[in-house]
Amino acid sequence: MSTVDSQQRVLSGMRPTGRLHLGHLHGVLKNWVKLQHEYECFFFVADWHALTTDYGDPGIFEENVVEMVIDWLAVGVNPGSAALFVQSKVPEHAELHLLLSMITPIGWLERVPSYKDQQEKLREKDLDTYGFLGYPLLQAADILIYRAGYVPVGADQVAHVELTREVARRFNHMYGREPGFEENAMAAVRKMGKKSARLYSSLRTAYQEQGDHEALAKAQALLKEQQNISIGDRERLFGYLEGGGKMILYEPQALLTPACKMPGLDGQKMSKSYGNTITLREPLKDVEKKISTMPTDPARVRRKDPGDPEKCPVWQLHLSYSSQKTRDWVVAGCKSAGIGCLECKKPVIEAVIAELEPIQKEAAQYERDPDIVRSIIAEGCETARECAKATIQEVRSAMGLNTW
Ligand code: TRP
Ligand code: SF4
Repeated sequence: MSTVDSQQRVLSGMRPTGRLHLGHLHGVLKNWVKLQHEYECFFFVADWHALTTDYGDPGIFEENVVEMVIDWLAVGVNPGSAALFVQSKVPEHAELHLLLSMITPIGWLERVPSYKDQQEKLREKDLDTYGFLGYPLLQAADILIYRAGYVPVGADQVAHVELTREVARRFNHMYGREPGFEENAMAAVRKMGKKSARLYSSLRTAYQEQGDHEALAKAQALLKEQQNISIGDRERLFGYLEGGGKMILYEPQALLTPACKMPGLDGQKMSKSYGNTITLREPLKDVEKKISTMPTDPARVRRKDPGDPEKCPVWQLHLSYSSQKTRDWVVAGCKSAGIGCLECKKPVIEAVIAELEPIQKEAAQYERDPDIVRSIIAEGCETARECAKATIQEVRSAMGLNTW
């Protein structure tokens, strides 16, 4: 598939750090399930990424990889619509990472905000390593190897997608200049036929001379419609539009996943490291117990003390799970001390259980038959490799490595 079609391709990865929880479900997975119907999707277990911070604890991956994919499948990520695979099983990611490392200035990596942030946050780990510094470039390779057009990520990862774009641009600029690029591009223009060629040239001029971005978008759309030019020519013409060379690596866009409002049991963000999660496979009895013992507005010491939902983490759960009618009942009942906290929690408990029950049924089937999961992963890896191989071939050639 050419870079042009791949604009409709979505790629995202997740580290295998343990059982997924409601935060992942509402923050990431529901979005994946939606995207898989709209785009060609590649979702992968980022086990190499996990090693960049957890290299001291490699045992945790073995089990987590399959278990995480079980969670994906159980919530409705569909291997018929999306390739599900494991990063370390597609070594092309590593080769591209290596090759990109040749042209990536160290300063670009040191400036990525997560570099210093994470070093500060994870002080107990020694993150003064080469692998940790290079981790955003590994992520760039993950994305570029599939020529993905869109990358669903949270706000903390947007800088990584931006780095990916810069690296792709630099690569195309350095290696997209095949000998005779201008002549080849001009010959390709002629192949489009008179009318399209004239339109392309005038849009290109409008973009290059006046910075007219609408003209650029129109010209790109025009190229996508062309039936009678080769993939190579199309890539040339894409590159020629923006002034660089042939476009070998495609600049992706971040699809910002809206920040998830799912609170943990203590009102902070739900996260394994805070120990405030409800996992997707939490026994339903424990779901009930965990929510029943959640702290509430501290002002409600006794049943007759009125409270304020705004000061209560349970209210955050109502915002995710309850209808307007239930919410009105909560607000009125809380402020007037008309309802007790346990009573207030009941609809939330019911809603969470109703959400998790079918997920757990699905998960149980896969748990009984992990071989099915393994074969889903194997198939996903194969699909991914096929795509990755095509890119790495072009990259090798562009860098002069396929010449003998
Ligand atoms: N870095 C991401 C994280 O830590 C995971 C990740 C790795 C990823 N490669 C990716 C996400 C490529 C999107 C695209 O959560
Ligand atoms: Fe929180 Fe509900 Fe209790 Fe009010 S009544 S403090 S919203 S649990």
